[in-house]
Amino acid sequence: MRLVLLGPPGAGKGTQAANITDSYKIPHISTGDIFRKNVKEGTELGKKAKGYMDKGELVPDEVVVAIVEDRLKEEDCSDGFLLDGFPRTVNQAEQLDSVLAEMDVAIDKVINIDVRKDTLVERAAGRRVCRSCGATYHVMFKPAQKKGICDLCGGEVYQRDDDTEDTVSKRIEVYINETQPLIEYYSRKQNLITIDGEQNIQKVFKDIMAALGV
Ligand code: AP5
Ligand code: MG
Ligand code: ZN
Repeated sequence: MRLVLLGPPGAGKGTQAANITDSYKIPHISTGDIFRKNVKEGTELGKKAKGYMDKGELVPDEVVVAIVEDRLKEEDCSDGFLLDGFPRTVNQAEQLDSVLAEMDVAIDKVINIDVRKDTLVERAAGRRVCRSCGATYHVMFKPAQKKGICDLCGGEVYQRDDDTEDTVSKRIEVYINETQPLIEYYSRKQNLITIDGEQNIQKVFKDIMAALGV
């Protein structure tokens, strides 16, 4: 299964990606997670990406596309993958199509998680993330069992630098201008599924699996 998860910042892409990739046993490719890992490790890519991320802006297309292309050519992606947070511009989507065509494969489904703006702000503000394994929590909706400690790996749970109110608003604005046009792009290709992301985490997952025919 080759899948793309589309949705505004804080919609629940990362949360659902973890569930979906567990079920299908496919790799979870999150460009945001790749950038955060590089920022943490202080790589050249991390230094380049951090400036854009902290402002809530997109990292330039050519940087992101090159990373995703390399990742998709790795062995573990041969039977499927889930892209989370990529593509994010029409240009990225077109370039993804060319990369996949060269590999003689195509996207099966694009899952669009639909959530209202007020809900997005609430979700991003309460989000906490594990510094070691990237697991995602929410202070109200999905608290860690022991405050500040990851249930899965015991790592430190922290708040993302770009989850401040101002940066979240900027990210939503960027989503509306740059990423929302992809809904139209993929509906034309007739492989778009839209899911009501206002429901609880389990119900959203159930709807995604039902829409995928599982
Ligand atoms: P990225 O990390 O992709 O951030 P994003 O798209 O803004 O999305 P988020 O990760 O914020 O939200 P999510 O949808 O994953 O929600 P989550 O599951 O965590 O990108 C960060 C930055 O990197 C970008 O701003 C950009 O600079 C750069 N970047 C990345 N990809 C790029 C690209 N392709 N091109 C250019 N630049 C790129 O859930 C949010 C919270 O809500 C959590 O606390 C969760 O527990 C909770 N929650 C989830 N679902 C529910 C539910 N149903 N009910 C209640 N709570 C819920
Ligand atoms: Mg995410
Ligand atoms: Zn962890």
